[in-house]
Amino acid sequence: MIIAANWKQYLSPKEENELLLEFGSSLKLHPKQELWIFPSLYSLMCLSKLAKALDMPVTIGAQDIAPTLDGALTGGIRADFIRGELVLIGHSERRKIFHEKITDIKKKLQVSLDANKRVILCVGEKKPISDEEIIEQLQTELDAYKEVIDGRKEQVIIAYEPWWAIGGNKTPTVQTIQKVIKLLHKLGFAQVLYGGSVDPHTIGKIVCPELAGFLIGRASTTMTVLQAILDQLTEM
Ligand code: PGA
Repeated sequence: MIIAANWKQYLSPKEENELLLEFGSSLKLHPKQELWIFPSLYSLMCLSKLAKALDMPVTIGAQDIAPTLDGALTGGIRADFIRGELVLIGHSERRKIFHEKITDIKKKLQVSLDANKRVILCVGEKKPISDEEIIEQLQTELDAYKEVIDGRKEQVIIAYEPWWAIGGNKTPTVQTIQKVIKLLHKLGFAQVLYGGSVDPHTIGKIVCPELAGFLIGRASTTMTVLQAILDQLTEM
């Protein structure tokens, strides 16, 4: 099971460094649990080097990527320059706050897949709607990426992250999550993660055997909280 920790910009570079070391010395991953960490882009290189030097059982990935390999892009970080094999694309916070459009995400997918990265592509509805509407919207959303992804689906992991479920304490029901996974499997995506308000209180209600894992924000920035989630997952 994949546990993907999205640290966003919660921690200072010093705290990120310390948390990685704390994970290395004390976090108990159970057999079949795999830890992926997405630190701030500022710390990406440093933490990748640290994890490698200490031979830690963790994969470090990038929270975002520039939509082009063009040199003339102030503030951009090129997919072919970053360390590590994992890239997170299409997160709802990028879409809401940075106004990223489907066309931007397509470009990010293109450059990342061309650079042989594995991509976690976030998809999900903006507000609570019926299961039928969710399926319809997801189908349309994924259709838009089809030409870029087709033929390279094994490089893409989908994170089902309803926008309304992120950063709070509300989640969809496990039945809705299962319907979404069924659709995504049918569309040829073998691995599906769920993300949005995953914590020790919600995890028991949303876990199901079809899920490949979870994308966890706030709850992944404290060792004891993340450990509580990992422990609960093994008991289920
Ligand atoms: P959250 O964030 O776990 O804090 O809701 C998840 C995400 O944004 O990926």
